[in-house]
Amino acid sequence: MNELTAQKRVHVETWGCQMNTADSERMLTLLAERGYGFAETVEDADLVLLNTCHIREKARHKVLSRLGVLRRLKEQKPGLTIAVAGCVAQAEGRRLMDEAPVIDVLFGPGKIDELPRLLDERAATGRRTMALGFDRHEPQAAGNSEVQAPAIVAPQPTSGHNEVSRYVTIQQGCNNYCTFCVVPFTRGREVSRSFDEIEREAAALIAAGAREITVLGQNVNSYGLDLVSAGIMPDLPRGPFVELLDRLSQMPGLQRLRFTTSNPHDLAKPLADLFVARPKLGRYLHLPVQAGNDRTLLRMKRKVTVAEYHERIRWLRGAVPDMSISTDLIVGFPGETDAEFEDTLRLVEAVRYSFIFAFKYSPRKNTPAARYQDQVAEGVKDTRLARLNALQERITLEQNQAEIGQSRQVLFHYQSKNLIDLGN
Ligand code: 5AD
Ligand code: SF4
Repeated sequence: MNELTAQKRVHVETWGCQMNTADSERMLTLLAERGYGFAETVEDADLVLLNTCHIREKARHKVLSRLGVLRRLKEQKPGLTIAVAGCVAQAEGRRLMDEAPVIDVLFGPGKIDELPRLLDERAATGRRTMALGFDRHEPQAAGNSEVQAPAIVAPQPTSGHNEVSRYVTIQQGCNNYCTFCVVPFTRGREVSRSFDEIEREAAALIAAGAREITVLGQNVNSYGLDLVSAGIMPDLPRGPFVELLDRLSQMPGLQRLRFTTSNPHDLAKPLADLFVARPKLGRYLHLPVQAGNDRTLLRMKRKVTVAEYHERIRWLRGAVPDMSISTDLIVGFPGETDAEFEDTLRLVEAVRYSFIFAFKYSPRKNTPAARYQDQVAEGVKDTRLARLNALQERITLEQNQAEIGQSRQVLFHYQSKNLIDLGN
């Protein structure tokens, strides 16, 4: 750390999914290694990092509007550096650089490790810097190697608090190409980290005070399949993901282990059985279904039928009868008829989710569904979304009422400094 960088502070704004939160933590960690401190507000920052999300509409517009505010701030504070990261950067990078000269540095989710170099280059040359794309997958062997493995430190939490619930990314990217989704384009193909690296990061987090760990991947259930096909990991009987969870759930000091996001296509029965064997696995699962009608699922290229989805739910609830389940649903997918939408309502009624994330279909550039001719009118999508949310609100209320009088174990995420001050 040198004297000049020691005083610098970074403010990070994270949009979108937990994967982005974990990526922001990695960026903060790289910057902390170079002496950057944490800034609660943009006014206190020397570097502002926008970690963006591209999953639904108006993504670029939202980034541009935030950059407009930052441009005015930069006029008063010319030393301010502005970096744009995340999926909008990957998908719209060059266009964004042209449209917003206020951006100093721009990089995609595949280039996070280049952040320090990009900042240095910006400072040294005065030129705006950019890194996009994905490097070729160079899988590393799992287990102990002769070569000394690099040290793994606990990533910096983006909240600035010493959180007890933390994320570990186990896999990047997605190979599925659902017809509505940009993720395979913004995050590349599936790449898994080795058991060894994941365990060492989890151990570092536990040593730093974590009690709950959520392992993250776009399709966690297919974790490790790339390593198996590259001959780096043996083809374990229960599959690499269940083996990984089994190992992590036995780590001393860890009280609860969670994982997201599960794809019903890759969810196998041994996972349900593991919930019985390892009570540290939280009794909750997010299992996106997207729609309750087979024709729609086929056009979405989801690779499971409604009956197969119900089978997965039966495995899970057969293992843990009160398993809490949530899902993602899209209404108004191209060609979805009223009757097909009613099938989604029926599915929600049958599964009795704890909560749902329901979205209006939003056409994304370069995805097949955006080119489908039978797009659904916005007004129809609005009505369907309102009906779906009203149904789930009723179910959630019934479930909450059933909780009255029950005792549950809770985890406090952090202790607020303000509360301690008040206590004094
Ligand atoms: N339109 C609407 N919702 C989408 N999602 C992904 N792509 C789209 C889209 N084009 C939703 C899916 C996914 C969640 C993360 O976002 O439900 O599971
Ligand atoms: Fe997108 Fe489908 Fe991959 Fe999920 S499984 S990230 S919805 S392409």
